[in-house]
Amino acid sequence: MRTIVKNGILVLPPGCCRADLLIENGKISGIGENPDGTGAEVIDAKGCYVFPGAIDAHTHMDLQSGPVRAVDDFYSGTVAAAFGGTTTIIDHIGFGPKGCGLHHQIAEYHELADGKAAIDYSFHGVVQDVSDELLEEAAALAGEGTTSFKIYTTYDYKLDDAQIYRFLKRAGSCGIVTAFHAENDSLIQYLRSRYVSLGKTAPIYHAESRPDDCEAEAVSRILHLASAAGGAPVYFVHVSCAKSLAEIQKARAMGQKNVFAETCPQYLVLTREEYKRGGGEGLKYIMSPPLRTREDCGALWKGLALGQIQVVATDHCPFNFAKEKQLGKNDFTKCPNGAPGVEERVRLIYSEGVAQHRITVGRMAEVLCANPAKIFGLYPRKGVLLPGSDADLFLLDPGAEETLTVSGLHSAVDYTAYEGKRVRGAIPLVMQRGKVLVKGRTFLGTRGGGQFLKRKKFKGW
Ligand code: URP
Ligand code: ZN
Repeated sequence: MRTIVKNGILVLPPGCCRADLLIENGKISGIGENPDGTGAEVIDAKGCYVFPGAIDAHTHMDLQSGPVRAVDDFYSGTVAAAFGGTTTIIDHIGFGPKGCGLHHQIAEYHELADGKAAIDYSFHGVVQDVSDELLEEAAALAGEGTTSFKIYTTYDYKLDDAQIYRFLKRAGSCGIVTAFHAENDSLIQYLRSRYVSLGKTAPIYHAESRPDDCEAEAVSRILHLASAAGGAPVYFVHVSCAKSLAEIQKARAMGQKNVFAETCPQYLVLTREEYKRGGGEGLKYIMSPPLRTREDCGALWKGLALGQIQVVATDHCPFNFAKEKQLGKNDFTKCPNGAPGVEERVRLIYSEGVAQHRITVGRMAEVLCANPAKIFGLYPRKGVLLPGSDADLFLLDPGAEETLTVSGLHSAVDYTAYEGKRVRGAIPLVMQRGKVLVKGRTFLGTRGGGQFLKRKKFKGW
C-alpha cells in the first residue's frame, strides 16, 4: 500500500521544508519535491505542517492509585492521545504488591494494554525495592526491550539514597535510563500533617505543602547520586519550577552528562492560582508536583527554547472531578493526585509555544517527537520523518482556532484543566504506520491496533 502526503510543510530535523512524503508498507520511503507517487493514495496537506507522530513519554493509563483507578484504560486513553496527534505512549506503570519482581508489573501491564491500545506503546519499568536479584532482573529486562525504569523519592515505595545509588550504578552500565519523580518526602509529610492539624485543608495547601524547594532539593540529591554512581543517565519527569531547572543546569555546567529534563503543559500554562477556584474546582489541579508561579512557567519556556529541557510529556493521570477528586473535598490530602492532558498537549504547545514565539516549530518537534524517541530507545523508528522510519505523523493546521472543552475531547474523564481555552492550531489528520488513525472528528483506528515497542538500550545522547 502506497500513500503520498502532498503540499505540506514537513517538519524535518534540519528545519521545515515544503516537500512531499511517500509512504510504502507503513514506512516512509521517500521525501522530495516529486517522489514517484504513481498509484498512491493522496493526502492533501495544503496549509498544514506535517509533524512526526508525537510521543508521550509519561502517561498513567489504568493506574491504581490508592483506593481509586485512573478512568482511562489503554483504549480510551490512547484514542484520546491519537486525536491529539500522539501516536506512541511510554506508560509509567503502577506499583505492584510488596516484594514482587520487576517483571511482575510489566506482565500486569501487558494484560491491561495488549489488544486494547489503539496506538503504539511501551512501558517504563518501576523500581520499588533494590536487591542483587532485582538488579539482575533490571539488566535482563533491558535486554528484553524495557530500557528505562522509574524511581520515586516520595509515595509508598520511595527508595532511599543507598538504594538509588545501587540502582543507578547498575543501570548506567547496562544502558538503562532511570526516570525520577523527585520530591523531598520527609518535608512534604511534615507540611501536610501540619496544615491538616491547623485545619488548612483546601486545595491551595496541596501547593503550600509541596514547595519548589522540596522538588529542587530532591533533584539536586539525585544528580549527586548519579554523579557518585559514575554518571548514570537520569531523566527528571515533570520538572515544574525554576529552582529544579537551576540545579540541573548547575550539574551540567560542572560537566555532568546524560541529564535529561521533562516538563508538562500544565507547568508551562497554568499556575497555582487554579487551586483557589470556587466550587471546589481547585481539586481538578491536584497533581504532584503542584502548579507553581507565572515566573516558573516563564523559566520553563525559556528552558525549552534554550535546550535545557528536552521533553514535554503529559503525566496524563485522569480522575473524574465528580467522583474520585471529591475524595479531597474536605481534605486535600485525600484527593487522588493527577490530571488529564494527553489530548491537549500538542495543541497547547503549538498555541502557547510556537504561535506566541516562545519556541520554534523545529523545537516543538524535538521536544514532542525526536527527543523522547532518542532518550528512550525508539529513534529513528519513531520521532522523525526520515526514509525507513515508521510512517507516524500528524498534520497541524496553523490557521485554525479551536476552544478546548471537555465535550470535544475523547478521554473518559469528565473535565479538562483547560476548559474554555482558545488555542491556535488544529489537527485534521493523524496517521500511524501508514494508516489514517484520525480524520477530522472521526477515529479510524482499531482497539488493539497499537503495537508494543521493545526499545533499544541507551548509548549516549
Ligand atoms: O500527581 C501526579 N503526577 N500523579 C501521577 C503520579 C505521578 O506522581 O507521576
Ligand atoms: Zn506521573
